[in-house]
Amino acid sequence: MSSAVIQEIRLEDFNAEAFIKEKADELSSTVGNGIAVNALSGGVDSSAVTMLAHKALGSKLKSFFIDTGLMREGEPQHIVALFKKMGVRVELIDARELFLGALEGITDPEEKRESITEYFYKKVFGKLVKESGAKFLLQGTNYTDVEETLAGVKRQHNILEQLGIDTQERYGYKVLEPIIQLRKRGIRELAKTLGLPEEIYKRPPFPGPALAARVIGEVTKERVATVRKATIIVEEELSKTGAFQYLAILHEDKVTGVRNGKREFGSQIEVRCWNSKDALLGAPTRIPFELLEKLGDRITEEVPGVVSVTYNIAKKPPSTIEAV
Ligand code: XMP
Repeated sequence: MSSAVIQEIRLEDFNAEAFIKEKADELSSTVGNGIAVNALSGGVDSSAVTMLAHKALGSKLKSFFIDTGLMREGEPQHIVALFKKMGVRVELIDARELFLGALEGITDPEEKRESITEYFYKKVFGKLVKESGAKFLLQGTNYTDVEETLAGVKRQHNILEQLGIDTQERYGYKVLEPIIQLRKRGIRELAKTLGLPEEIYKRPPFPGPALAARVIGEVTKERVATVRKATIIVEEELSKTGAFQYLAILHEDKVTGVRNGKREFGSQIEVRCWNSKDALLGAPTRIPFELLEKLGDRITEEVPGVVSVTYNIAKKPPSTIEAV
């Protein structure tokens, strides 16, 4: 399939109820008596797909949350518990060592993304699909993911068929993408209509490669831990801005700092806080300086080894939302 044959459903033409009915019928007839597996990350896209498929397929759907070791603090457990409350069983798979091992020594951004994609689809899902006897993998690819990948901006982790990858041949299953015609705002409306809580349908976007998209240079356990700690602070302080997306990035270069009167050659964290409609274009939010100062203080005090904090003031383009 190429983007030419994927028809975008524009927000003004989108009817969530009718869409749910149509896609649920489609899923149910495609999967038939078989089994489908599904990767939940807790983002609005994969959450909407999980709920849609749960309604359409019931016990023929097996949902997994893959802990890649690249998620935010407590995220895997929190999302699994949240879905459990809604009656959806999600199995947590610990793949932390596998992913960190796969990323060892890689510094090139596109190579990182490719490595995550290969491990995710081949090693982890290839195995889960085989074990469960499933023939289908459901995922929440959206219209913007396809556009950005085909435009050559970034290889989005979930784009396969549009890059000419035959998933059946390469991984042993077919990928189903029920929300590929929608952009973020349509997906939020869909998630709300599906009965997902506000925490999910209003959730700021988070990239598939997770914190690896926010570590410049090699992705190690320690460096992910640094960006994870900074992320907690950035999310706590910036959620009140109502911005489209806010994040912390760990830079590769270190700089000279001074702490308690002693030289400290430490890390640099960059904060980004975006205004955007659909992530295609973005501009930095005009954050009050007091809030920026608070971020600077908290990050240098609470995240070990960080001596410098900067705020990104470039627009997208030429910047992108994530750093990798
Ligand atoms: P960029 O960094 O390309 O990001 O300006 C645009 C939007 O997409 C998110 N993003 C991803 N989402 N898989 C995803 O599902 C990915 O590989 C990926 N990379 C970036 C990013 O957070 C932003 O909202």
